[in-house]
Amino acid sequence: MRARVLSGIQPTGSPHIGNYLGALKNWAKIQYDYESIYCIVDLHAVTVYQDPQELRAKILELAGMLLAIGIDPKHSALIVQSAIPEHTELAWMLTCVTPVGWLERMTQYKAKSDAQETIGDGLLQYPVLMAADILLYQAAIVPVGEDQKQHLELARDIAQRFNSLYGDTFVMPATHLPTVGARVMGLDDPEKKMSKSAAGSGHAISLLDPPATIRKKIMRSTTDSNPAVDFETMGAGVRNLLSIYQAFVGVDDDAMKAQFADMRYGDLKKQVAEAVVASLEPMQKRYQEIVSEPGYVARVLREGAERVTPIARDTCDKVKHAMGLYTA
Ligand code: TRP
Repeated sequence: MRARVLSGIQPTGSPHIGNYLGALKNWAKIQYDYESIYCIVDLHAVTVYQDPQELRAKILELAGMLLAIGIDPKHSALIVQSAIPEHTELAWMLTCVTPVGWLERMTQYKAKSDAQETIGDGLLQYPVLMAADILLYQAAIVPVGEDQKQHLELARDIAQRFNSLYGDTFVMPATHLPTVGARVMGLDDPEKKMSKSAAGSGHAISLLDPPATIRKKIMRSTTDSNPAVDFETMGAGVRNLLSIYQAFVGVDDDAMKAQFADMRYGDLKKQVAEAVVASLEPMQKRYQEIVSEPGYVARVLREGAERVTPIARDTCDKVKHAMGLYTA
């Protein structure tokens, strides 16, 4: 049996080239090597307030986008977290074995709660729900970025604690699969990782941005005080543009150096912009095809849910039985 891989993405903001090059491209690639489950984690999204109408639209948009970048529903189960009640069911049972202190120590919780006036309990429980996503399917491999490593370790700790309290129930999950993709930085602030939530329209390139917008954002991106590309002294902004180019076009370091050495920034930006436009064009076309077929995305999501539900149900029943909960 092939190992199971599971990952999740929040349906907030718009997926951008940083998400694509850093994670999603790899999802599409590894789906053929594993039994893969990719989850749109809407229940995680509502740990901070989301406009309902917008959230509803974003879930379908993200699903369409994941299909457009090559997630193949014949190979992968594409699911929406809230459509499978077992995610929440297991999360509750795991909550009961998770010390509050473990959760209060999570750096993402600390950062997010500092930014809010009142904190929903869901923000504290966030990593327990993520542990449930993973443990529900006994996933062996969980591709996530650095920022999610602590949550992944917590999932292992929760599984271990459950097993020691109630007997072996969970397979030890979650080898963290190192991110192989590029780490794309914000165009306006190349010291910060490109983020879906960062304000400012010049920050990220959405996968659905039209060519004119892509060109404008790249032409306005932050560089440094050099006039032209110098591989010795270039700053983070120029490095970021080169790395975006390299990730999309697939040239090696030597070819890139030969191509861009001493090039003026205006010309560099033009070439990077054209490469990004050309790379996104086929995805955007596929996206339009996908969303113009009535009911297609909803059908893929329903079939995904049907495929994984027996696994999820089985895990929940095992856990309920282990804990002595009532099973009819
Ligand atoms: N917390 C993850 C993120 O923000 C998303 C996520 C939710 C996830 N559940 C998951 C990732 C399960 C991997 C596995 O990136």
